[in-house]
Amino acid sequence: MNIIKVTNNQFQLNTQNTSYVMHNENGVLCHTYYGKRLPDCDHSYMIKRNRYNGDFQSDVSENIPSLDNALLEYPVFGDGGITNPALEVLNSDGTNFADLKVVDFVVHNGKPEIDGLPASYAEDGDNVQTLEIKTVDSFSGVEVSLFYAVFYDYDVITRWVKITNNGENNITLLKALSGNIAFDNHNYDVISNFGTWARERQIERAPLLHTGAVVEANCGSSSHSTNPFLIMAERNTTEHNGEAVGIALAYSGNHKMSANLSRYNVVNLSGGISNDNFRWNLEKGESFSTPELVISFSDSGLNGLSQNFHSIIKNRVCRGIYRDKKRPVLLNLWEACYFNFTDETIKKAADSAADLGVELLVIDDGWFGKRNNDRSSLGDWNVNEEKIKCGLDELCKYVNSKGLMLGIWFEPEMISPDSELIKKHPEWVMQIKGRKPTETRWQLMLDLTNPEVQDFVYDSIANVLKTTNIEYIKWDYNRTMAHIGSTYLKADQMGEYYHRYILGLYNVLERLTTDFPKVLFEGCASGGGRFDIGMLYYTPQIWTSDDTDAVERAEIQYGTSLIYPMSCISAHVSVCPNHQTGRTTSMAARHIFALTGSFGYELAPEKIAENDREYIKNFIKFYNDNFEVFQNGKYYRLSNPKADDYAIFEYVYNNKVIVGLMRLKTHAVNLQTNVKLVGLDENKIYTDKATGKTYYGSQLMNYGLKIMTNGRNNDFYAMMWEFE
Ligand code: GLA
Repeated sequence: MNIIKVTNNQFQLNTQNTSYVMHNENGVLCHTYYGKRLPDCDHSYMIKRNRYNGDFQSDVSENIPSLDNALLEYPVFGDGGITNPALEVLNSDGTNFADLKVVDFVVHNGKPEIDGLPASYAEDGDNVQTLEIKTVDSFSGVEVSLFYAVFYDYDVITRWVKITNNGENNITLLKALSGNIAFDNHNYDVISNFGTWARERQIERAPLLHTGAVVEANCGSSSHSTNPFLIMAERNTTEHNGEAVGIALAYSGNHKMSANLSRYNVVNLSGGISNDNFRWNLEKGESFSTPELVISFSDSGLNGLSQNFHSIIKNRVCRGIYRDKKRPVLLNLWEACYFNFTDETIKKAADSAADLGVELLVIDDGWFGKRNNDRSSLGDWNVNEEKIKCGLDELCKYVNSKGLMLGIWFEPEMISPDSELIKKHPEWVMQIKGRKPTETRWQLMLDLTNPEVQDFVYDSIANVLKTTNIEYIKWDYNRTMAHIGSTYLKADQMGEYYHRYILGLYNVLERLTTDFPKVLFEGCASGGGRFDIGMLYYTPQIWTSDDTDAVERAEIQYGTSLIYPMSCISAHVSVCPNHQTGRTTSMAARHIFALTGSFGYELAPEKIAENDREYIKNFIKFYNDNFEVFQNGKYYRLSNPKADDYAIFEYVYNNKVIVGLMRLKTHAVNLQTNVKLVGLDENKIYTDKATGKTYYGSQLMNYGLKIMTNGRNNDFYAMMWEFE
């Protein structure tokens, strides 16, 4: 198997269904091709050869002093090109330039780690190789190694860059993206997510114009507003047909993902840490590694591309026992009681939840300090004795005695101005000396660039985990950064703040997940405000949105599924009228659409009406019997819930097929429609479990399932089919 093939000046990286080809053109690394798998042969005829200059001198006489239209693998500022550069190096003489030439390459078996950063990994026996191409600016001594990890079986290539200052003088990085891919076709659409609190990851698709497309976050986290990925699809690409390329960044801080269309119609698709307020000093001998960019190509439409991302993230980004183990059916008490609870009410909830078949009970915000609302106590991670008189350990023992695991909420990166912690350590607040930092939700942020603060955060959580049998932590993060500054860092390190903060966060998460391997960590940031591959390396599931309305969730989970696997997308059934929208949907709709994620509840179990209790018990049993379908099955989006009358999804796992549907629009005239299933075996016979009726795979895929729902039923009617 030729995963990485280097011949003459050509580098060819192959996965099962894709090839990525580059050429070394007189020392300049140029992109040649990324797309469907090619044979291992010479592809040099594809090299773009017009209008090169200088070192690019080729068989064309025209000599325009610009590298604009070359397909550069890692464009550098100052070389004459005017496209979006991936690297900007400020030299000690004040100039911004680096002239990188290929000097060497190495092929590693497997995949090296990236210092201090989350990244995909290879396991023994995986068909994974990594190409490292070394480029050097011989004048300044700056060395840039470009890494390409090729996951053959996953149709994924990941890229990152390591920059080392081997020169005599200090340099400063002003921009250091993780990767860039150049294309000389240009009829693309760009697809991305935008969002807000309670409206995360809405999909937008628009043609790529010469004005370009940029997805960026500069608030310190990957954010509600954008998500660190960008998809470029051919104009006619649909869910299940056509070509698409996606890039997604394994990073939880500021990002910049962009598609740039040059005047010569060269597209540069790039991603990495945002260069806004980014400066990184490299003294002699020091190195900087960028986060990892995960890249995939599919010719089976957007759904095919999503499945590639799902599979690599689920199997080779998520770690720990819960990567493969069944995720517990979780019941979170936030919407049940908000800040208003005692140990006695929690015990009652535990009794009732156990009776329903729930496996993990989660106490949300308010169990610590003097916290009775959101105005105090962040940082005081000792139990609130007024509410939990018996203490956490005893409460945990009680919950465990009912056969349930217990989990609790933390917001570890924060500090309340009304807290004991701030009295002891005012210097730990993220702050600009002499200025009053801005509060958001009555809270300030801790300065995680400071190792003492990192230790404090680690200890706060470790102490609870060491003294109780708590088996789950919801790690929340409820504001964006402002007043970026530190009493710990020096003035010339302030441009490094955002990235140092994220490195501090990863350091704490790495220590906790290593020391407490049995604990399930779930990410959260005012709902899904930090939903990215970086966090998923530590927390295999993330609370998707504070909006638990089934209809809005159908849209949010639809958008989230573009990149992220369903097992990572926490989805809970809540009560009606819904607390965020006031809408009433059927029990079936709320349950079926919580299957497009990691399944759970967000309600007071003891308040559920008797007939609904039976429904829930049966549904939990159904979920448990089929969890592998939802956790490991292939997920297909069968409709667009924003545009269509129905939200429809399909899971396929071995011989099992589960289809879920919710009617979103009610019409007086009740038209019958049919939905074509995907990913079945044409010649196999599928039996509808409810009716015993049988169908050929080809019938279900080419004509489809017949759908007729009651037109007057106004409560967001939902149904489900199970085939075997
Ligand atoms: C955020 C989270 C919620 C809940 C509250 C608690 O908004 O997204 O799920 O935990 O904080 O304050």
